[in-house]
Amino acid sequence: AEDKLTYVKSKIGEYPDFPKQGILFRDIFGALTDAKACVYLRDLLVEHVKHNHPDVEIIVGLDSRGFLFNLLLATELGISCAPIRKKGKLPGEVASVEYQLEYGSDTFEIQLNAIKPGQKVVIVDDLLATGGSLVAATQLVRKVGGVILECLVVMELSDLKGRAKIDSKVHSLFEY
Ligand code: PRP
Ligand code: HPA
Repeated sequence: AEDKLTYVKSKIGEYPDFPKQGILFRDIFGALTDAKACVYLRDLLVEHVKHNHPDVEIIVGLDSRGFLFNLLLATELGISCAPIRKKGKLPGEVASVEYQLEYGSDTFEIQLNAIKPGQKVVIVDDLLATGGSLVAATQLVRKVGGVILECLVVMELSDLKGRAKIDSKVHSLFEY
């Protein structure tokens, strides 16, 4: 597993001063343009969830890069998935929560009927920075009745200490 991890990490893009001065942007798409990194990344995520959360019932992915992994994980695990989206994108009745980002603020929404009461959830995203997005996501999932087993990300920017703000288990494949 260590080998797959090293390979995937080596393919993550690094862009200084994007989208703003002082941000070193870690680009997941750098890995996804490499065929072997795609397969390794899938294996690492699927093996982690199978091994640690065999009772998971639904994967919730965050807009937009979490969507790369929610359908992937759901189909590999034989379960369903649902999106958390930026405001105004989801039809029907939704729950909303505003949150702060490393470079701005935004509002996330989830459909009220996305999760069945008591359903066991793993939340997935590409990256944990300040933790604002995942804090909002955990609030939304709980609002609509979900039970959070874990927040799972590919990358974690450890210096920003986002993990400390999140009131559930957090797992990252690798840290910077
Ligand atoms: C990025 C990233 C995470 C979030 C992490 O998404 O994909 O979702 O920021 O930051 P945080 O831990 O400080 O909340 P972004 O909001 O840029 O949206 P995008 O995926 O639509 O580009
Ligand atoms: N990469 C991708 N998304 C992000 C980052 C980053 O470095 N920081 C905050 N969101």
